[in-house]
Amino acid sequence: MTIQKPVELVLLLGSLRSGSFHRALAKALPDLAPSGVTISLLGSIGDIPHYNADVQAEGFPDTVHAMGGGIAAADGVVVVTPEYNYSVPGVLKNALDWLSRLPSTPFAGKPVSIMSGSPGPIAGARAQYHLRQIMVFLDAIVFTKPEVMVGGINTKVDVAAGTVTDEATRQFIGDHLQAFVQFVDRLSPKS
Ligand code: FNR
Repeated sequence: MTIQKPVELVLLLGSLRSGSFHRALAKALPDLAPSGVTISLLGSIGDIPHYNADVQAEGFPDTVHAMGGGIAAADGVVVVTPEYNYSVPGVLKNALDWLSRLPSTPFAGKPVSIMSGSPGPIAGARAQYHLRQIMVFLDAIVFTKPEVMVGGINTKVDVAAGTVTDEATRQFIGDHLQAFVQFVDRLSPKS
């Protein structure tokens, strides 16, 4: 698929560890996206301090401003995250809590794609539905299907190369990105 106008997406990664399977998946996305689509990694959620309203009263951290600005300027957001204890990792929730308090919430009206995985078979499905619930209060518009839930993710990515090695997984991620870009265009067609 070739799109008519460039689409700029930003990516929020829910894992901090260097050997993260989700980091590998995230790195692979530009190659799996339709031509004309850019996907840029936002700053690390690990660089954002714990949410504290007292800190907010002194001024938002620069890392929050930068992330919020990146999201606001993008055509859409892709969240790639593992599941922790049947929900989203706390460090990701912390970033979303900060972003939600910015004077102009950057997620409002923003198309959002969610991708998850797990070494296990449930593939982060429970985290996806918790994340959808969080996104309701942020007024984001979450894309639904085709979904990306990668079971056995440890066997389907090459961490060193930052690639997805499983052909079926590459295919359904590509299908998801193509449909997501169409969703983004329907929500705010570029002239
Ligand atoms: C996990 N893991 C996990 N997996 C899952 O499918 N459901 C879950 O609820 C949890 N819970 C959980 C909690 C915590 C604290 C950790 C550290 C891990 C396993 C998780 O999917 C696995 O560690 C992934 O490899 C994490 O993703 P990255 O860091 O490889 O991208």
